[in-house]
Formats: sequence, structure tokens, C-alpha cells
Amino acid sequence: MRIFSGIQPTGRKHLGNFIGAIVQYVEGQQRAADAGDVAIFCVVDLHAMTVPWQPAEMRERVYDTAAILLAAGLDPEKCIFIRQSDVPEHTELTWTLGAVTAHGDLNRMHQFKEKSAKQKELVSADLFTYPVLMAADVLAYRANEVPVGDDQRQHVELMRDVAIRFNERFGDTLVVPELKIPAVGARIMDLQDPTSKMSTTGGSTEGTVYVLDDAKTVEKKFKRAVTDSDDPPRIAKDQSKPGVSNLIDILAAARGITPDEAIASLADARGYGDLKMATANAVNEMLEPVRTRYAEIRQDEDALEEIFAAGATKARAITREVMADVRAATGVGPRTRVPAS
Ligand code: TRP
Repeated sequence: MRIFSGIQPTGRKHLGNFIGAIVQYVEGQQRAADAGDVAIFCVVDLHAMTVPWQPAEMRERVYDTAAILLAAGLDPEKCIFIRQSDVPEHTELTWTLGAVTAHGDLNRMHQFKEKSAKQKELVSADLFTYPVLMAADVLAYRANEVPVGDDQRQHVELMRDVAIRFNERFGDTLVVPELKIPAVGARIMDLQDPTSKMSTTGGSTEGTVYVLDDAKTVEKKFKRAVTDSDDPPRIAKDQSKPGVSNLIDILAAARGITPDEAIASLADARGYGDLKMATANAVNEMLEPVRTRYAEIRQDEDALEEIFAAGATKARAITREVMADVRAATGVGPRTRVPAS
């Protein structure tokens, strides 16, 4: 069982990313290793080029993101941890897969429609082919499992179609991967607007808890969280109580317990204030060690570059073989099967 996931180097990582994606990565690297296989985690700098970016900031954001993932527990000895642009087979395979990707399918992607509508200067060709690069990321490793947020569902379905079409046309070469949506994280809501997902774009700063917020800021954001005016206050999960339900889910995720257990732990609470404080404390307990390790890891950029270099070497041992098979299957390149150097 092989796992692949990619994470954007843009924006600051928030609680939804942490509980939804990052915690699942750490669990996945262990599960893959236990199964005698490997999990690959990739900071996708090439995907960050699909919308306008500042060259001076790109590398910084990649380091920031890498340091958060490592601080959260990704272990480059246990998994393969890479920067996308370090492994050239991702881009080579993108071109090949483009040959079996329907233009009409790309045109139907929700993310392309949303993002292209927002571009003022230029809707780049890279924004359009974004899902093909994402397919190549995964298919270059013959990964079986793709843990991603619900917003990436359509992209994973497309990559499955692309793999199936490739195999039908050129013979069984690629593995058709499965989507894996996290149980909780997909539903972490904005604290100020608990009917919309916590997000870096569009959400409120007040309602978004960042992994690197200090303990005081975290506490303040939870204290101001929107709840409801039920009288007496009711600590329960209910569609009509999105704010309270969200706090219960966060508390449960941060403590590693079920929502029912979280509710039971608050049986003596006198109101929503107790729920908010319990949640803030649980989140700070979860994030404090991450913040401390982050500060150490982030300041040593040479060490981060070494980690990326070692990751790329391990990654290419896989991707060169897959790419050689792809070239052989498609009749591209020299007569004999040669792995890329
Ligand atoms: N598009 C994904 C996102 O925005 C990131 C990503 C890039 C990815 N390549 C991937 C996720 C491959 C899973 C597999 O979240």
C-alpha cells in the first residue's frame, strides 16, 4: 500500500489543514511503512506557479511548509519527503498524460473555473493543466492511496480516469489510485462563520486558527468563537448548532477522542465559555510542541535542502523506473528501455 499526497507551499497552514491533512500524513507514513511500503509527501512548488507568485517568496514558503510538516512529525527516514521541482519525472509524465487527458474534462474542473474567474492579468495554460501535473505526481509512483481534502475529489477522479485510459491504450502500466478523504478535518469550520470551512482564502482572520499562532492568540480566537443563543446553553452536536458542533469536533480531534467523549467530558460545564476554554487548551497542547520544533527546523535552511536532496534521490529510484516503463509503452525515446538519468 503506497500513499502519495501533495501540499501547497502557499498561505499559512491552519487548524483545518493540520487536523485534516497533516495529522493524517503522519499516520499514513507509519501505516505505509508497517505494510512494507512507503508514503511520499510532496511540497508542490510547481503547482504554486499556476497563479501569480513572487519569486523571492516562493522558496521561503516552501521552507515554511516543509518545516511545519517536519515539525508535525513527518520523518524523512520513514517516508519520502520531496519538493516537487526536484523530481523531473513529475513534469515529464505530465506531458505524456496530457495525451490521454480530454481538454473537455479539464474545462469542467470546479477549481479551474473558480481560479480562472479570479485571475485579472492572465489565465495561464498551467492553471488549466494543473490536474494533469497532479495526476503525474501520483501516477509516477504507482501510489494506491491519495489522502486529500474534499475539494480535491474531482482532481483525483480525473487522475483515475487518466490512468485507466492510459492502461487501456498502452497496456497495464500505471496504478489506478484510490481517494481517501479524512474523517474530521474536512469539516473544520471558521470560528466566526461556522457554516463555511476554515480556509486561508476567503475566511476571516479572527475565525482562522493558524498552526503558528501563539498560545494567547489561539485562546483569544476561541474565546470569541461564534456559538448560539440557546437558553440554557446546550453542548451538543446538531445541524442547528454549527458553532458549538464545530468546537466539539475540534476538541475531539485535538484530544484524539470521539465527539461523544468530548461532550461527556463537559458534563459539568456551566456554559459555552467552558467549552471554548477546553477547546483552546486542547488545541494549544496539540500545537505547542509543533511550534517549538518549527522554530528550530525553520532556521536551518541548509539542513532543509539536504532533506530535500535525500528525498529526491529516494523518489527518483521509483519515478525513473516508472517513466522508463511509460516511455517503453508509448514508443517514445530509444529502442531499449532506459531509465532516465
Ligand atoms: N492540489 C492539491 C491541493 O491543492 C495539492 C496536490 C498537488 C496534491 N499534487 C497532489 C494532492 C497529488 C494529492 C496528490 O490540495
